[in-house]
Amino acid sequence: MNNLKELFPILDQSFNGLPVVYLDSAATTQKPTSVIEALNKYYREINANPHRGAYTLSVMATDSFEQGREKVKDFINAKSSKEVIFTKGTTEALNLIAYSYGNFNLNKDDEIVIGITEHHSNLIPWQQIAKAKGCKLNYFYLSPDYEYTQEEIDKKITSKTKLVAIGHASNVLGTLNPVEYIIHKAHAVGAKVVVDAAQSIAHRKVDVQKLDADFLVFSGHKMFAPMGIGVLYGKQELLEEMPPFLYGGDMVEYVYEQETTFDELPHKFEGGTQNVEGVIGLSEAIDFINSIGIDNIMKHEHEIISYAYDKLNELGFVKIYTTSNKDLLGSVISFTIDGIHPHDLATILDSKGVCVRAGNHCAQPLMRYLNINSTCRLSVSVYNNKEDIDALVSALEYARRLFGYGSK
Ligand code: ALA
Repeated sequence: MNNLKELFPILDQSFNGLPVVYLDSAATTQKPTSVIEALNKYYREINANPHRGAYTLSVMATDSFEQGREKVKDFINAKSSKEVIFTKGTTEALNLIAYSYGNFNLNKDDEIVIGITEHHSNLIPWQQIAKAKGCKLNYFYLSPDYEYTQEEIDKKITSKTKLVAIGHASNVLGTLNPVEYIIHKAHAVGAKVVVDAAQSIAHRKVDVQKLDADFLVFSGHKMFAPMGIGVLYGKQELLEEMPPFLYGGDMVEYVYEQETTFDELPHKFEGGTQNVEGVIGLSEAIDFINSIGIDNIMKHEHEIISYAYDKLNELGFVKIYTTSNKDLLGSVISFTIDGIHPHDLATILDSKGVCVRAGNHCAQPLMRYLNINSTCRLSVSVYNNKEDIDALVSALEYARRLFGYGSK
């Protein structure tokens, strides 16, 4: 898969004569030419407001939008396209569930369980709902090898648990979480499960029926599509019972001075003009993923991330924050170097053309739990190869020399 870089025009650039080594796909992926061109074509040939006009352009925009929904439905193997709601991204989707499901189904003394590795977007909504409703917010904590053990899961999911919200893969540690086991245990006590698939959707097969997830959310921009488009999957029977999250145009049936009846699924949750461009980009991104094959992507990325894990370990001066079980290694590794602040380190890496994220990665409770302030994080995608990791390794050696530590 080495030539895939050619499909991503941005990776063809160089800064200060250095090629771009992009190792920040967990923040956002780069976009292939096919997606960029689909957006161009949309604005040149199709643009109109969907669901609102009888004229040909509006019908074309509506058809493209709804075909995108069908494509998402097939991609995640939902039973019906009514179960696919378009949102602005993972954050909005999680807030929608917390507001429209949580607010109306969680009660005083109910327990919500989330992981300590959750991104703020899968933490704050539950924290705020717990406060508002008088629920208890419990956390799965990590083993010394950065995993959630079955023992920990068994302990935290109790007869009082009503909802579990868990990332499929951590955006900081990269570790794949045992979502199948969590869903099984949660369902055994009658709790619902929200899966945040933002960090897994572009990296491995996500089948909502096989998982039996009650809700599953992800963002387009982490899977080669534009920013500003995301997906909320929910089981139809749950979505039917939930009130709308955003009121406005296009999500209604009849509006009277004092009353309103709402449209059917999925439109009930899609108030206001929708991001047609985003859906078209997402649809093209799914075609792109399918053209390579999600299993091939997973295999390729696993090879690269395992290589990165070994190379960082071999350096001897890098502390790695992820599981040592390579079968549970996702597409992300966090790391630090003693004596060099992660922000300084990321800036030095940038001077060598290497792009990594530094900071708390929107996971402050996890940082506090690990007793650190921040890390550097590398993350890989289809277009990365072993040379990218070699470039990172030599930039790390350079940073260490620059700070006067040893000859390496
Ligand atoms: N959630 C994105 C990340 O982890 C922005 O970098």
